[in-house]
This record gives sequence, structure tokens and C-alpha cells, in this order.
Amino acid sequence: MPRTSRPLSGRPVMITGAASGIGRGLAQLLSRRGSPVAIADIDADGLKQTAATLSGPVLTRVLDVRDAADQLAFAGEVREWLTAPLAAVFNNAGVALGSSVADALPEDDEWLRQINFDGVVNGTRAFLPILLEQDSGAIVNTSSVYGLAGMPYQSAYCAAKFAVRGFTEALRHELRGTGVSAVTVHPGGITTNIARSARIRTDPEGLGRTKDQLADEFEAMTMTSPEKAAEIICGGVEKGKARILVGPDAHLFDILTRVTPTHYYDVLGFVMARARGRAAKGAGK
Ligand SMILES: NC(=O)c1ccc[n+]([C@@H]2O[C@H](COP(=O)([O-])OP(=O)(O)OC[C@H]3O[C@@H](n4cnc5c(N)ncnc54)[C@H](O)[C@@H]3O)[C@@H](O)[C@H]2O)c1
Repeated sequence: MPRTSRPLSGRPVMITGAASGIGRGLAQLLSRRGSPVAIADIDADGLKQTAATLSGPVLTRVLDVRDAADQLAFAGEVREWLTAPLAAVFNNAGVALGSSVADALPEDDEWLRQINFDGVVNGTRAFLPILLEQDSGAIVNTSSVYGLAGMPYQSAYCAAKFAVRGFTEALRHELRGTGVSAVTVHPGGITTNIARSARIRTDPEGLGRTKDQLADEFEAMTMTSPEKAAEIICGGVEKGKARILVGPDAHLFDILTRVTPTHYYDVLGFVMARARGRAAKGAGK
């Protein structure tokens, strides 16, 4: 199928998880490029801080993406607020969790699934009718490289991100013949607050590291800033890509999982252990 380009600059967009990280980066980039931005997050203070950095039109909404009825109500508010067709819906909000399968608490897995998967489904269902009525625009759902590869101690996160990928790819094929597209985003490591806000009850590898140490390690291994991630994501949407890989590490995950679908972790595990060692040395540990 030929790619349809989807310009974003100057056109209204909706972004969840905009109080921090990639969502904030998307809001800032698109607002700078003249787009009115509707931004939502569960974190009211962070959302205010994001809004304070934007100079163009902005609609802010404190919202828990798990709440399907509230997502629908917000879609109604966005519809009223629009002065031009909605160019893109970024279902970006997400959280992280680290645990072995054996030690996982069902309530933690449920918490993650409801935000990272149900939140994306709720946002898609709430906003899709607007895009279908216009017969234009993109649903842009954030998966992860952990939606391409299974990683130890990330079972709940991987399950939710693989689910986002499956849901979004199915939707993409359903939308054939319409002017609406569905896009999956697979970021590699991005330097955001995700690890610091994660639920980690104990070092899943049994090495006795604190949550802060694990977050430091994660951040030292990331390769891409949220601002750069926002640029790559917007560039991918504008080019009409169906799948957007964010960062050099995302390209490595993509290649390995295709070349060696059952043995990719032999390489990834080795590369990540080396990077972790370098990160720990860099932090003087
Ligand atoms: N940072 C990475 O390395 C990385 C890698 C792959 C995928 N991702 C994905 O990118 C997306 C953005 O994450 P980030 O890295 O910018 O993290 P972040 O923690 O900086 O931002 C996530 C935002 O989501 C919001 N959020 C959490 N729960 C919510 C809820 N129930 N309702 C509404 N908002 C909620 C948070 O308040 C926060 O503002 C997530 O889906 C994440 O899984 C991140």
C-alpha cells in the first residue's frame, strides 16, 4: 500500500501522558510548530508544568486513561474545542513494573495492564469516531521495543506492549480504504521518568539494588532524549509509517527479533549486560 503523508504542523493533536517524558516532548514540539494541543495526564501538577511551557492553544485535562467513560467525555470536549480536523491521537501514557514471574503480585500486573493496554484501547475507542467522521488523521499508539522482544523481569510490561502492537496492527488493517491510519511506536531506551515512577518492590534479579539504583542504571543505558524521540515519532507519522522505531537500540531489537526470532536474547542479553556494566562504572559503582 502506498504511504499517505500526514502533516502534523499547525494541526490539532491529542496526547496522553503529557505531564512528563515523551508526551511532554510531543506537546512541546507540536505546539512550537503551531499545533493546538489537547493534553491529558493523571498528574495534574506535571500537566500544568507542561502547559506553562507551551505558547499556542492548549486544552489540558486531568484524566486516568484506565477510565473509559472519562476518555469518552474528554473526546467530547476535544470535539467541541477543535477548529480544524484532529490530525493525530497519541495514546502515549504508560508505566513500568519490574518483577520476576514467580514473585509478581497480581494487583501490580493488573495495574500495569490497565494503564498500558486498556488505556490505549480506551483512548482509541474514544477518539476513533472523530477521525472516522473526518475521514482523516492517525491513531498513534505507544508500544515499546519490549513489544518486539520478551525480556526477563518485564513479563507484565512485555505482555501489555505486545498487546498494544497486536491491537494497533489489527486496527490498521481494519482501516484500509479509509483516510484514517493506525501507527505503532516502538521506543528503545528514552531518558524519562518511567523507571523512577515504576513499581519495583524488590530487585528482581536478587542483587539487592534499590529502586533508585535501578533507575540510575536504566537512565545511564538510555540512548535517546524525549525531545529527539518526539521528533522521530512526529517524523514517522508525517511520512505515513505504520511502525515507528525510536532510537538506535530500537533498530537493533527490530533486526534481531526478525533474524533470530527465538535466540535474540542471546545477543540482547549480552549487549545489555555490557551496557549495564559500563553504566555502573560511569556512576562510580
Ligand atoms: N522511556 C522509555 O525508555 C520507554 C521505552 C519504550 C516505551 N516507552 C513508553 O513511552 C510512553 C511514555 O513513557 P515515558 O518514558 O515518557 O514515561 P514518563 O514516566 O516520563 O511519562 C509517562 C506519563 O504517563 C502518565 N500516566 C501514568 N499513568 C497514567 C494514567 N493512569 N492516566 C494518565 N496518565 C498516566 C504519567 O503521569 C506520566 O506523565 C509509555 O507508554 C512507555 O511505556 C518508554
